[in-house]
Amino acid sequence: MNRQGLQIGNKAAEFPFIQGGMGVGVSLSGLAGAVAREGGIGIISTAQIGFREADFEKDSKAANLRAMVAELGKAREIATAADGSCKGLLGYNIMNAARDYGDYVRTAAKAGADVIISGAGLPTDMPEYVEGTDTKIAPIVSSEKAARIILKMWDRHYRRTADFLVIESAHAGGHLGFSRDVLERQNEEGFDKEYDEEICRIIDCAREYGEKYSVHIPVIVAGGIMNAGQVQHAFSLGADGVQVATPFVVTEECDAHRAYKQAYINAKAEDIEIIISPVGMPARAINNPFLERIQKEKETIRKCYRCLEKCNPATAPYCITRALIRAVEGDVENGLIFCGDNVGYLTEITTVQEVIRGLFP
Ligand SMILES: Cc1cc2nc3c(=O)[nH]c(=O)nc-3n(C[C@H](O)[C@H](O)[C@H](O)COP(=O)(O)O)c2cc1C
Repeated sequence: MNRQGLQIGNKAAEFPFIQGGMGVGVSLSGLAGAVAREGGIGIISTAQIGFREADFEKDSKAANLRAMVAELGKAREIATAADGSCKGLLGYNIMNAARDYGDYVRTAAKAGADVIISGAGLPTDMPEYVEGTDTKIAPIVSSEKAARIILKMWDRHYRRTADFLVIESAHAGGHLGFSRDVLERQNEEGFDKEYDEEICRIIDCAREYGEKYSVHIPVIVAGGIMNAGQVQHAFSLGADGVQVATPFVVTEECDAHRAYKQAYINAKAEDIEIIISPVGMPARAINNPFLERIQKEKETIRKCYRCLEKCNPATAPYCITRALIRAVEGDVENGLIFCGDNVGYLTEITTVQEVIRGLFP
């Protein structure tokens, strides 16, 4: 396939793709490092990243900030060739909905992240925390409306624009920027075609702001992409690259427990559920005894990790931190397993190189 890399300002990756950040603990240094080594953009999820640190129970924020820096260092080691070169880039996904969001972004930029990507809400104050650094920033949006709000705010308040933009469709994994009603219609005929038009409008919006600042704002399309045809389709709409997450879960290099990867392999299309997470946002997950149980009874929350700004432990049906950690550590019956819409197509453990070859033969 004829392909060009991805240029984001003064930074470049050999392949025009980003491996989407996956929390908790699914995309850490192992996966992100391998992706960057192969020439892509490897993304470490900062969501409760310190869960394996000794002091996580006592001071999860301190554990998270420390683990963030350590994981980027490990990823750089994996990604860097013997001659000191690296074909890809490395960065973080930091959810805007995270409590102390600004401290995480500041730490990420200071640690030398090439890029930071923020979704799960509108990261209207993101530029403030990277000022004076060379870290490139991107919001994740699902609508033209959201793109316009963010770019207008950044323009007005910070006299700058986005370094790149990620568009996440309704087929993506984790928390989703669509209402439940929209998500229920996503397999209907014409849904994707209609969304392609939204993608084109978001690209037009990026071009407008790019012109204003005399820069090219690369636009990256995400959600349900797992083969070369889908990559080509995104390019045909005017995208500069794609973001892919779910297919990377079943790689040897992915940081999740083997049982988590096996749950992906076992999952069929009919096992996918749209849930409302404790923060009130829709999310996609694999149906399991945990999901069935929490629909009937609330879980006792013994401790609040203060992870998300809007979660109230008094009313939340379960602790999302604990549920995600249980899953990534291999307790797939009792944990929350986020997934993308294409999980049903994954049938075996592969490697990062093989996933990339499928996208860019
Ligand atoms: C297991 C899992 C965890 C995810 N966690 C996050 C997250 O913490 N923050 C975020 O912005 N996106 C998260 N995502 C979304 C991905 O980064 C990505 O944009 C999306 O899943 C792309 O669609 P795909 O999985 O179909 O390729 C997650 C996705 C999955 C599958």
